[in-house]
Amino acid sequence: MRTLDKVERHPSPVEQSLERLHIPVLLREVLELLRPAPGGRFLDCTVGLGGHAEAILEAGGPETILCGIDRDAEALALAEERLDRYRGQAQLVHGDFRELWELAREHRWASFDSILFDLGVSSFQLGNPERGFSFFINGPLDMRMDRSGGSRTAAELLAVLSEKELAGILWEFGEERFSRRIARAIVRKREQDPITSTKQLKDLVERTVPRSAWPRKIHPATRTFQALRIAVNDELSGLSGTLEEASALLKPGGRLVVIAFHSLEDRIVKETFRRLAGQEPSAFRLLTKKPVVPSEEEREQNPRSRSAKLRALEKVAN
Ligand SMILES: C[S@@+](CC[C@H](N)C(=O)[O-])C[C@H]1O[C@@H](n2cnc3c(N)ncnc32)[C@H](O)[C@@H]1O
Repeated sequence: MRTLDKVERHPSPVEQSLERLHIPVLLREVLELLRPAPGGRFLDCTVGLGGHAEAILEAGGPETILCGIDRDAEALALAEERLDRYRGQAQLVHGDFRELWELAREHRWASFDSILFDLGVSSFQLGNPERGFSFFINGPLDMRMDRSGGSRTAAELLAVLSEKELAGILWEFGEERFSRRIARAIVRKREQDPITSTKQLKDLVERTVPRSAWPRKIHPATRTFQALRIAVNDELSGLSGTLEEASALLKPGGRLVVIAFHSLEDRIVKETFRRLAGQEPSAFRLLTKKPVVPSEEEREQNPRSRSAKLRALEKVAN
């Protein structure tokens, strides 16, 4: 019996349903930069539902090895199912990429041809009401990417933080100009009722931000939800150090590719890459002077890709 080649192969039902749950962003650009090839070794630090990972394995061919990390055990289980036919080539690990060094030691990972970070949350996480990431659907205010650990949920943070701490989070991680007003409204509301659902928080922000000041292109609760999510998952601390650790795991000529979805994250990536490429003599060179952004076509097909910014760095081969 003849096996199907790449052109003939149709996505399996699992792949089709996963494609609906999350469309990998900037896929063509990622593959061009990662250059999957036979015998290559790749590390995907945010494997999610395995969309990029699958494309890397598919493009690289039978000898390609892919190691993947995600802190979300539910996403990882789906990725495992998706990558089942690459058994022996894919190794997926539940963990936090900020522990990259320990994970690399534990699993004897070294010398990667390319490493990918596709930061933030997936549409799978955003679209699940149980996870509490989105104000579009009502659900418990959870927002933890890793529900297996002991970290506090968004509802718990809203219940225990002081008004000043809440305002600081909304300002620092959401750049929300009504941070103080919203923090005050949260504290007043929780004196009567605990804030435990996404709808309660969304309604509170809608009531608190004056209608005349509602942003034109985004919902007024967008910044508040982003800020809380970053705080719950402690998303920014350690990112720069992790990127430096990842750069040390690259082979000469290897590439580090990072996709960020908001300006705070992108700033950290930009500054870390500049620092690495700016050392004298430098072991790295910047491949993207300006960030790569999705084409108009991709933005139309996948609105979630709109805020994506990709930056890439190469370890100098000598
Ligand atoms: C945008 S999604 C990745 C989607 C993936 N590239 C795909 O094509 O399916 C980002 C993933 O990163 C994971 N993540 C975010 N921060 C993480 C961290 N510190 N350690 C490990 N995984 C993390 C999230 O759980 C989420 O599944």
